[in-house]
Amino acid sequence: ETVTWDADAAEKGGYEHYMRKEIHEQPEALRQTITGRLDVDAGDVDLDVSFPPGFLADVEEIRVVACGTSYYAGRYAAQLFEELAGVRATVEIASEYEFGAGRTPDRTLVVAVTQSGETADTLGAVRRANEAGARTFAVTNTLGSTVTREVDGTAFIRAGPEIGVAATKTFASQVATLAMLAVSIGRDRGALAAADARAVLEDLQGLPGAVQQVLDKESRVREAAQTYQDSEAFFFVGRALGVPVALEGALKLKEISYDHAEGFAAGELKHGPLALVTPETPVLAVLTEGSRANETMNNVTEAQTRGAPALGCVSADAEYDTLDVDFPVPDVGIVEPLVANVYLQLFAYHVANEKGRPIDKPRNLAKSVTVE
Ligand code: G6P
Repeated sequence: ETVTWDADAAEKGGYEHYMRKEIHEQPEALRQTITGRLDVDAGDVDLDVSFPPGFLADVEEIRVVACGTSYYAGRYAAQLFEELAGVRATVEIASEYEFGAGRTPDRTLVVAVTQSGETADTLGAVRRANEAGARTFAVTNTLGSTVTREVDGTAFIRAGPEIGVAATKTFASQVATLAMLAVSIGRDRGALAAADARAVLEDLQGLPGAVQQVLDKESRVREAAQTYQDSEAFFFVGRALGVPVALEGALKLKEISYDHAEGFAAGELKHGPLALVTPETPVLAVLTEGSRANETMNNVTEAQTRGAPALGCVSADAEYDTLDVDFPVPDVGIVEPLVANVYLQLFAYHVANEKGRPIDKPRNLAKSVTVE
């Protein structure tokens, strides 16, 4: 009898793909992201960034720049900056970013979100922001990466190494880090009351456990993937914080399964995409806290009327009996859409896996793109 030692399988800790391993590492990654950074009682955050004094307090505008999955984390964050920090915030695709006329660079904080810290498009945006005289900040997973040398301050997301080309745990840790940054800016500016900050921090503390509860329902997601894998196309919808998650869900599915998938703001469905809806196009919806679930459900119903199957990630305290499949999301306030995203990651994974795709290295894509 011989014992074979498969080094590759060992690296993946018994998982068939890094992507699935990294999806399952999310509770631990999130724990690392928040560990030692939350002072829940005081309603405050310490991201261990040494800013020059007053660096954040008089910021008038935040502009987030990023690419790919990091751009969707940025879209999530921009809403949190407005809501929690009371600062006007926009998000731009890094390769499109220019410092327009009529802006006040010295009162603008440009936040680059980049897992690798090496994406050429994002570095280009940071350099243009620096030239214009803006304050710059990076949110990255990579110590010593190029972006950290170009900005005024950096917060590390501490998600641990990610090997799969499709970003998963780093998205979760990026959003959690950006949420802490939003609280920190809100507190510095006096825009966020301690009690409101405390509620957000409690939700962040609950995040690792909530994600674990989703992972425990993986077999349900696998079944749904098996049922719908041969569909013509997949549509992902949500509102508010559900929009970036819908966009990210669609990106994940197209990257690794090669199926046609699109994400929309749910309200836009009737302004065009509804023409594509048939019984062959499942709609996956974010129906959680922070995503205007009732209005989103109305749009989902419009798609169902045209025969589309509907799958929804639903808050624990809500119920939409007309859904074909429902995935329960534990109660964690404004990070519920982020928890719903874990279902969408698993859905993409299982559709791609059923089809035998090279999940960790999809065709034509690279983990880090260092050309513009
Ligand atoms: C590539 C990867 C994506 C990633 C994007 C931005 O396109 O395939 O998964 O989201 O780059 O990478 P970054 O390292 O800047 O977050």
